[in-house]
Amino acid sequence: MPETTSQDAIALLKQDHRTVEELFAQFEKASGDGRKEKLAQQICLELSVHATIEEEIFYPACEGKVEEDLLKEAYVEHDGAKVLIAEIEAGSEQSDDFFDAKVKVLQEQIEHHVEEEEKRMEGLFSQARKAGIDMEALGRQLAERKAELVANYKSAGVPKPELTTMAATTA
Ligand SMILES: [Fe+2]
Ligand SMILES: [Fe+2]
Repeated sequence: MPETTSQDAIALLKQDHRTVEELFAQFEKASGDGRKEKLAQQICLELSVHATIEEEIFYPACEGKVEEDLLKEAYVEHDGAKVLIAEIEAGSEQSDDFFDAKVKVLQEQIEHHVEEEEKRMEGLFSQARKAGIDMEALGRQLAERKAELVANYKSAGVPKPELTTMAATTA
């Protein structure tokens, strides 16, 4: 990767959020010819990569530096989304009467979660920034891992998401 591509961790994660919001907006307008399935698969890929890099790299870096409750809720919100992601990946409009509903509810859950991360002053990102975490170094790690995961998922498919906080239910 060229050295000039270094990116602030929060800018990278926010950019991912905007990408997914755009895909959800396209899904709402889409119809016919498997267009919805294609968009839904892309949403699942983007969200799976994003949740993984946050859980592997960004959230651990926030440990002890942001409100503990907020961080724990973020992990649980990810797991809630993963249940729907697994359902959407396995289904289609033809095979699942609830396909569109699942994408819609996923969108709503993600909107809430993104708000918790991006909220001004008290959001997770704001708290992490104020705690003085090295966002340039973290951004490089996130970008590297993201590139690796995207390549893997594009060639081998998106793996069934693993739940981090839930044991009583299997996704
Ligand atoms: Fe995020
Ligand atoms: Fe997140």
